[in-house]
Amino acid sequence: MKIQCLTLLVTLTCSLNMNVFCGDSGLSALGLIPQPVQVKVGSGHWMLRPETRVVARENATAEANLLAEALSVPLGRRLPVVAEAPRDGDIHLSLEPSDPSFDTEGYRLSVATNGVTIRAATTAGLFYGGVTLPQLLPVDSWRVHGSAAGPGTNCSVAVVEIEDRPRFSWRGLLLDPARHFLPPEFIKKFVDIMALHKFNSLQLHLTDDQGWRLEILRYPRLTAIGSIRKESPRRGARNEGDGKPYGPFFYTRAQILDLVGYAQARHVTLVPEIEIPGHFRAALTAYPEFSCTGGPFEVRTRWGVEPDILCPGNDAAVAFAGEVLNEVCDLFPSRFIHIGGDEAPRERWQQCAKCQARMRAQGLKSEAQLQSWLNQRLEEFLARKGRRLIGWDEILEGGLTPGAAVMSWRGTEGGRAAAEAGHDVVMSPTTHCYFDYAQAKGPGEPESIGGFIPLGKVYDFDPIPPGLSSSSHRHILGAQGNLWGEYFWEPADVEYFAYPRAAALAEVVWSPAGSGDFTDFQRRFQAQARRLEALGVNYRKGPLPPN
Ligand code: ACM
Ligand code: ZN
Repeated sequence: MKIQCLTLLVTLTCSLNMNVFCGDSGLSALGLIPQPVQVKVGSGHWMLRPETRVVARENATAEANLLAEALSVPLGRRLPVVAEAPRDGDIHLSLEPSDPSFDTEGYRLSVATNGVTIRAATTAGLFYGGVTLPQLLPVDSWRVHGSAAGPGTNCSVAVVEIEDRPRFSWRGLLLDPARHFLPPEFIKKFVDIMALHKFNSLQLHLTDDQGWRLEILRYPRLTAIGSIRKESPRRGARNEGDGKPYGPFFYTRAQILDLVGYAQARHVTLVPEIEIPGHFRAALTAYPEFSCTGGPFEVRTRWGVEPDILCPGNDAAVAFAGEVLNEVCDLFPSRFIHIGGDEAPRERWQQCAKCQARMRAQGLKSEAQLQSWLNQRLEEFLARKGRRLIGWDEILEGGLTPGAAVMSWRGTEGGRAAAEAGHDVVMSPTTHCYFDYAQAKGPGEPESIGGFIPLGKVYDFDPIPPGLSSSSHRHILGAQGNLWGEYFWEPADVEYFAYPRAAALAEVVWSPAGSGDFTDFQRRFQAQARRLEALGVNYRKGPLPPN
């Protein structure tokens, strides 16, 4: 439907201008992912030249610098950023906060023969316009940084008007450095590629049974002990150990602050996830007094779920969780703090005198309600710091706490019910968003956790679940693709499983509802693939089953 609409626009433009190029060369050839809301291709070209400048006032200098950096690759030299009146041929970034025609994060990109203008009401909008512009250059100009410009590198861009804005405000991916640590340099590269696809949220799964990866000043043993495991599952034999000590691996506070700033500059929010009360074995290895049994424990050496979890019957254990979140809030400015909440077996709570006493004292009828009681403490704690709690859909089981947002992973029904009840929801179901599942079948595919989510299935995903009343649509903040790390031994494995599926999800969460055309997406991805190649991304190459 979108293609017909765009074709119509191009046809109209064709009839108005004599020298218009149109048809395939005007649309699919632009190779934009995610597909913008509206594209009108005009007549003629603008050239990126050594004399081109990026013009921006102070409030847009950061976005101007990032664009200048991106364009330095095709040009082979850095463009100057100036705060002067635009000259012929310049790129002008214009921040227009009082213009009501712009949505938050939306932008208008006008390429004319005598220059380029990007307009937006927010710096995020300017940034996204600046992400689109380099993608209008011929893909050949996306060379590996520092490599010589080929003879006659073509830096021309067709005259075009692009009107664009995202469909959803939460456009996310998740990385899991708890299972296999991911160096900060890789996280930065990953953020760069996310930004290229206009994603704006990266959840970091920082703690799990198999490792605690965040420095916490008040509890140094979390990383001194919790970031090391005796061994890991062996590649190719998941139930056997590899005999190799793993760690210490964790992010220091300085590294996190650096990553937060790096991501923020690219309009990506790092959402920290601290698993509470389950997936908590690494923490309990360091501080067994916060468990129901007292331990001792070892950091888990196999994938899976541990029965030993935080003891919410113990005031000190609840205070511990709060103090950890306190330091997390100091490091991460994210409005949402993810407390996990999934896969917390409640059998220890059934046997624990403290947990049972808490339930009696609070009039709680089930262990599920005890988890909700704990969530309520965490939510109140976060609210005092101006933050909001988000958790996996298990937090629905004992009754959702009033301000909680839900990340719906066991299908979409939990998310639908939460949205109907007025809670914000991010859709991340195992049916469409688990990018650790295989994307193709066959002997050449790497080992993976199980499951099968081919590219076309991701592309067909609609974050608005069936049956959701239209008045509740606004509670669906967006969607997130999860890259759980059990079977990602190297950062290159993460990239292989992420792309092209994350590119499909980018279009799901950015482009208008019902506008997707999978065949056209695949055609456009051919251009995106060459850009990913130039950026050194190990995306999965070769044909993929559609669904
Ligand atoms: C999950 O996959 N356990 C959220
Ligand atoms: Zn207990």
